[in-house]
Parts: sequence; C-alpha cells; structure tokens
Amino acid sequence: MAWITKPSGSMKIARRDEPYLTPAIAERFTREILPRYEKKQGALLPLLRAVQDQWGWLPWQALTEIAAFLSLKPADVWDTASFYEEYWLEQPGAQGAMSKGKHVIAICRSVACEVCDHSKITDACRDKLGIEVGETTDDGQFTLMELECLGSCDTAPVALIGHTLHENLTPSSILQLISDAKLGKLDDHHHH
Ligand code: FES
Repeated sequence: MAWITKPSGSMKIARRDEPYLTPAIAERFTREILPRYEKKQGALLPLLRAVQDQWGWLPWQALTEIAAFLSLKPADVWDTASFYEEYWLEQPGAQGAMSKGKHVIAICRSVACEVCDHSKITDACRDKLGIEVGETTDDGQFTLMELECLGSCDTAPVALIGHTLHENLTPSSILQLISDAKLGKLDDHHHH
C-alpha cells in the first residue's frame, strides 16, 4: 500500500511513518470485511470505526490512508467522517479540541492553496469567529480546521464547509459564507 506524500517545507501536519491503518487492520479487512461488500466503498464506515478504535481518533493522515486503501478520494473520506458525530477528527483532549461545531470549516493548506493565499482565508475566519484552527466557537456553531489538498487545486483557494466544497475563495467570500451559515442559509449538509 502506498500513498502520495507531499513534501512541503511549510507543511504543519505531522506525518508519521507508522501507519494508522495498521497492517493488522488492513489484513483483517482484506480477508474478512471487504469480501462482504460489492464495492470497496461499502467498507468505509467499518474501517473508520476500526482505525478510530485503534487510536482513539482519526487524524488527517489516517483519512488519507483509508482513502488509499479503499481507492477513494481523501476529500470524500473526510466528507463521510465529518458527517457522523461519532468520528473524532481532532485529538480528544488536545488543546482547543472539542466536539465538532454545527458547521465545520476546513480550509485547504496544501501547496496550490498556499500559493493562492489560503492564509488570508484562514485569518478571515479566525478574526470573524474568534477561534484558532482546531477550535470550536463557544456557541458550538463553528469548528475551524485546515486540511491537506482537497483535490481542487485548479480552483484554489478552496475550503469545505460541512459537505460542500467552496472554490476560488476570497476573504470576503468566506465571510459571506459564514454569515449565510449563521442565518441558516447555507446548505452544507448535501454533497456538491
Ligand atoms: S492544494 Fe488546495 S486543493 Fe489542492
């Protein structure tokens, strides 16, 4: 099994050598679980569960490993994992980690988005919401995160809000989306 790592001098996500999707889990799924499903994708929820049971949460690296294992896009795995309350995408007990807000804003911070000033998008959210990346607002409305490449580099900078990808973002367009979300006008629970 292999996945693509992106060497980036500014990458802030720790990518460790030891896989979260351990050989034991991979072996068990290949032998017992995958044959039960017509499509590999069917095993996504049980696999998220198995990896989370092993480590207590699902870091982004785990999602990319699961995506590679099931031949899915990392953004689609994220989409599913963030939909269900039971999956922890932040390390429980880490500073600022709380349960997920109603709206999860996940800004891409990989190379193409970085070049297109993704940090201005993050800063706009930070200022508007008064929280840091990885935190949730006190009212439980918004969680702010940064992720690696969402596979939409040609429309950078991009962010997922809930389950919808927003492209060609500017600080003012992301603030508008936050306002819409506050007013309940943002439909972020459907697939794009
Ligand atoms: S780098 Fe942001 S979508 Fe690829």
